[in-house]
Amino acid sequence: MKTEISVFHNLNEASYALASFIAETARKTVESKGRFFMALSGGKTPEVFYGLLASEFADSIPWQSVHLFWGDERYVLKDHPDSNYALAFRTLISKVPLIVQNIHRIPTELKPQRKAAEAYQATLHKFFSTPKKDPLVSFDVILLGMGEDGHTAALFPENPALREKERWVVPTFSSSPFSPQPRISLTLPVINGSRTGIFLVSGSKKTRTLRSILINPKEVRHIYPAAMVCPREKLFWIIDQDALNGISYSDISYEVIKEGNKDQFPA
Ligand code: 6PG
Repeated sequence: MKTEISVFHNLNEASYALASFIAETARKTVESKGRFFMALSGGKTPEVFYGLLASEFADSIPWQSVHLFWGDERYVLKDHPDSNYALAFRTLISKVPLIVQNIHRIPTELKPQRKAAEAYQATLHKFFSTPKKDPLVSFDVILLGMGEDGHTAALFPENPALREKERWVVPTFSSSPFSPQPRISLTLPVINGSRTGIFLVSGSKKTRTLRSILINPKEVRHIYPAAMVCPREKLFWIIDQDALNGISYSDISYEVIKEGNKDQFPA
């Protein structure tokens, strides 16, 4: 698995480069496989990116062959302001001609939380069921964010869900003081069964954790869930200057670093 770091001046440029890459990848994947499976991330960072997919890049994406999934969800109703689905619906889904049956939302209306996780796992099994015990879940692309504490999706440091090997989807709980609440998350075997993983990370609050992961990935792989992400083919870190915030390129452990400009991602 190859890792590539791309640094952009700001979140807008990083989001533009990501949207351009996703539009191209969706088009090529639909040409070769007839459909494009993408798992969306949550939080606030992807908002600009979603808006670009729905505007500048809308006409270059074969929406009728795109399937949307989620890497995690807050255990709130789909119209709740904290809902990851609600953000994607407001900025993207309500503006492009996706086929409703191809939007695979995590059904957080189901009670209890465990039932919602099991229902979402059943949905994934329809698309990715494999005879093998280890899930070869293959989203073409999984988009991920990273919290200041190094969590990704809804997998938080020291959470037992990090050791889950059987289930594809689990109920978890955010240990983050910023948004303590029940969540539903893909597990690492599923996240790492994806072909391509893409972190979009912005802002100086993430620098401390990002520095550890980019400079000493092996040392922090047992600490930060974001450092445990290892997709089958490629892992991109798309970060802005604020998040890089003085991390020296020469200290970063990965082979390819680009002072990206929005028209040339990836390398
Ligand atoms: C969520 C996410 C989570 C998010 C990070 C970063 O539901 O919150 O999926 O993993 O990506 O917490 O969030 P921000 O983009 O808001 O910084």
